[in-house]
Amino acid sequence: MTQPADPLVEGEAESIPDRATQSIAEQAAQSIPDRHVQLRAAGVSLIVHIPEVGLPAFMHWGSDPGPLDRQQLEQLALAEGAPPAANGVDEPRAVSIMPEPWTGWTGAPGLDGHRAWRGWSPRFTVTSATSVNPVPGDGARGGTLELEARDDVAELQLDLHIELTPTGLVVMQAHVTNLGADPYTLGSVSLGLPVPTRADELLDLAGRWAKERVPQRRPFAVGTHLREGRRGRTGSDAATVLVAGEQSFGFDRGEAWGMHVAFSGNHQVRAERVASGERILLGGELLLPGEVELARGERYSTPRVFGTHGVGLDALAGRFHDHLRSRPHHPGRDRPVVMNVWEAVYFTHDLDRITALADAAAQVGVERFVLDDGWFGGRRDDTAGLGDWTISDVVWGDGRFRRLVDHVAALGMEFGLWFEPEMVNEDSDLARAHPEWLMQVDGRLPVESRFQQVLDLSHPGAFEHVRSQIVALVRDYDIGFIKWDHNRDLVDAGSTRTGRAGVHEQTLAVYRLLDEIKRQCPGLEIESCSSGGSRVDLEILERTDRVWASDTIDAHERQQIQRWTAQLLPPELVGSHVGSQRSHTTGRMLDLSFRAATALFGHFGIEWDLTAATDAERAELAAWVRYYKQLRGLLHTGTVVRRDLEGGDLWLNGVISTDRAEALYLVTVRERHITWPVGRVLLPGLDPDRSYRVTAGGPSAFRAASNHWADPAWWRDGVTLPGSVLVGVGIAIPAQDPDHAALIHVAALR
Ligand code: DGJ
Repeated sequence: MTQPADPLVEGEAESIPDRATQSIAEQAAQSIPDRHVQLRAAGVSLIVHIPEVGLPAFMHWGSDPGPLDRQQLEQLALAEGAPPAANGVDEPRAVSIMPEPWTGWTGAPGLDGHRAWRGWSPRFTVTSATSVNPVPGDGARGGTLELEARDDVAELQLDLHIELTPTGLVVMQAHVTNLGADPYTLGSVSLGLPVPTRADELLDLAGRWAKERVPQRRPFAVGTHLREGRRGRTGSDAATVLVAGEQSFGFDRGEAWGMHVAFSGNHQVRAERVASGERILLGGELLLPGEVELARGERYSTPRVFGTHGVGLDALAGRFHDHLRSRPHHPGRDRPVVMNVWEAVYFTHDLDRITALADAAAQVGVERFVLDDGWFGGRRDDTAGLGDWTISDVVWGDGRFRRLVDHVAALGMEFGLWFEPEMVNEDSDLARAHPEWLMQVDGRLPVESRFQQVLDLSHPGAFEHVRSQIVALVRDYDIGFIKWDHNRDLVDAGSTRTGRAGVHEQTLAVYRLLDEIKRQCPGLEIESCSSGGSRVDLEILERTDRVWASDTIDAHERQQIQRWTAQLLPPELVGSHVGSQRSHTTGRMLDLSFRAATALFGHFGIEWDLTAATDAERAELAAWVRYYKQLRGLLHTGTVVRRDLEGGDLWLNGVISTDRAEALYLVTVRERHITWPVGRVLLPGLDPDRSYRVTAGGPSAFRAASNHWADPAWWRDGVTLPGSVLVGVGIAIPAQDPDHAALIHVAALR
């Protein structure tokens, strides 16, 4: 299994290998017996060609043709090499995974850098290659290929890690080492995944605050589709997964290839189609001027770049889900029902009020109670206090904080606490004591955002300040969960320590801080939140246990946000709360059944002032909590399916257990359809050879209340049908207004 990027360290001095006595070609001849390597896993084949000069290229990344022996691989190399392009270079080469301009490649270079303006067009040769588990070993389990390449003229070494995980994901990472005496300035290092010419359409995600991960599509035209993240965080508008696929590819159809850059700082992904026919997805970190300058022996590591292939977007997502679930540190225990107090109290912290909320939470079955922003320093609103991570005397003094923590524990709930560790208000003791720890450019502070500035964690003192304050609180109060927030873009994020742009170092420092806190607080779970869902990527998830997908709890919006967050993350990693009837962010009024059914398809929680809810509402909510607890085993391990029905007016989301014995589907009307009732709905993912009992889902006492104005005949007492009928013929669903839920539960007969 791939390891989290070890930790993308700039400035790691290493001894430089002395190979002066051996030419690059001699070394290569000795250490690379096989120039074609095939890795296979979960229906995917990755076939890599290591040329005698230049960097490796993928001969094939896609569906698995079965194991190929050396002779067959050589024949394939002959068969698939394109003829020279008209008016192109005389010796055409397959575009490599880090495309090099010297080969005649006219797209963006994989490595952009120079040594005082020389060494700007490296020409690498692979000097060693080690593969683990290539075909014909145990071919179904994936494997790795570690390559070392050098350019003795540019005086650079490149180490490449190429992996096919057991779940069929490609993972690539590159490390660039300066072998020369003078510094080497890096502009960018991108890794590329080639896609075939039948990948005619592109899809990626966009978005904004409270409306994250909105899909956008376009033809894969000649030129570059470039998505840059320059916010110093992953971003609410991040591409997240850039997909190229066959025309009209959808959740269940069309071959497709996707890329994700696992990084929480500045980054870029691009889809490039050049005149000579190649199409490639490229991704890496976006470096600001001067951020990475390698002294002799220093090494820069790229983020990990992931590739996912399959037929349909669900298959692409499924590979990420399977991969995440296979990690040893994937949250193993049942995902506890959360109560977060933010939308219930905002900054109005008061022991009696919050204690009453805890009582109400415990009554409906909450298992984790989270105190949000407002408990520390001078934080009475959002203008002050960030950076001072000690309990506020004003609201929580005289032992009141301890009383709350003890009360929550006595109610049988775990206690969670909010932090925003990378941020500082200018009105804080920390900023007054250490103005030099605020990120800035040439003595000029950045423009404020939410009245806050960014704390430069690359200063050892700043790092230590935050680390020690957080660890002390976690230990003193037995805190089981941290909501780790990050509420502004990094604008003009320079470091007073180096005088240079500091986003790269800040991002690595955040990873170190999270790693350190996790190490010192065993069992602590952390949520990645950033103005809602602005930090959702696979590198932050190596150190955190769920994401807060959005600041909008409006279930209509959440349906879309969760549907597309699922392109990367399985439901158990995506916090999803039941809010109040009127959404605080959109003003939309939604029934409890729809709000709760939407939250079911994530890590379920509540963010609502239950002390103001009616008894009937609390009783219904408690029933939904019981239902979630009953089904979370299925929802948090099963296969996710998504479908657009009736021209997109009807959405189906479902989770099917891996043994296909049980499933839960949610059908919602997004828009009132032009004809009514809608047609039969197919239930994907079931075993055609089994018989299933199909019943209306949701807590039984509240099924009738879900605003169906006409139900099909089977709705009351259920129906028993073969899987082949459910997947191929379909069933009728209740006629319902938009933004109401029809849950369908399916269980195999023994
Ligand atoms: C932004 C988060 O997304 C909210 O849930 C809340 O924690 C606020 N910050 C607190 O300031």
